[in-house]
Amino acid sequence: MRRMIISGNWKMYKTLEETITFFEEFSAWEKDFSHKNQLLIFPPNLYTITALEMTRENDIDIGVQNIYFKDFGAYTGEISSPMLTSIGCKYALVGHSERRHIFHETDEEINLKILALIENRKHIVFCIGEKESQRDEGLTEQVLDTQLAIGLQDVHEKDMQHVVIAYEPVWAIGTGKTATPEIAQDAHAFIRKWLSTHFNSSVANKTRILYGGSVKAANCKELLEKQDIDGALIGGASLKIKDYIEIIKISEEVAQKKDQ
Ligand code: PGA
Repeated sequence: MRRMIISGNWKMYKTLEETITFFEEFSAWEKDFSHKNQLLIFPPNLYTITALEMTRENDIDIGVQNIYFKDFGAYTGEISSPMLTSIGCKYALVGHSERRHIFHETDEEINLKILALIENRKHIVFCIGEKESQRDEGLTEQVLDTQLAIGLQDVHEKDMQHVVIAYEPVWAIGTGKTATPEIAQDAHAFIRKWLSTHFNSSVANKTRILYGGSVKAANCKELLEKQDIDGALIGGASLKIKDYIEIIKISEEVAQKKDQ
């Protein structure tokens, strides 16, 4: 069975002090977990080293929210994959809808970022998802197909072990409007079928597909129980340690059931 991932995207929230408090509290709670699922937090890039150092003894991974696809150079304000290596960071989020829509990142740029991360042996959480108007027009599968086809261009079958896909319908991000478990499952099944067609059934069976968009303790059980949902990418509800821990605990119960 695929190991679920319960990941948190903090976006541009938290001070350094709040970041430190979160990981101190996490450390105190960790003994209560079964460690069944993988945990992963994307703090603001500025706090990556602190988060890595604070979690060295903990079973939680730390990633950056974005990178640039060049290794080094005159790119003011950017960070690169080799820089992640230099601080021992193994994970990066790519193609989040806020990067796509606020910062106008294209599928082609997202593809270059994925290839740069693969080249530098990083693990990638690659976000895709349709806007509300696209869903209303019945274009969801077409949008996902394009995002997958361009985003994963030139990614080889063997490299897919480094790629996790996060399905995040744009209309559900930060809006409180979660996709129903059925809507999410349908999109996840479509993505898994896409992986089977464009790679093979082994890649499709092994690749973890996370759901993101207003996930919270009150709705995560029904979502995580779905066959093709292998975890969650959580924004708002990952900021408060109590909410994040509640979701982890629920996810452990679901994982236990899925294993049976
Ligand atoms: P949300 O954000 O959980 O606050 O909707 C999800 C995300 O942006 O990854």
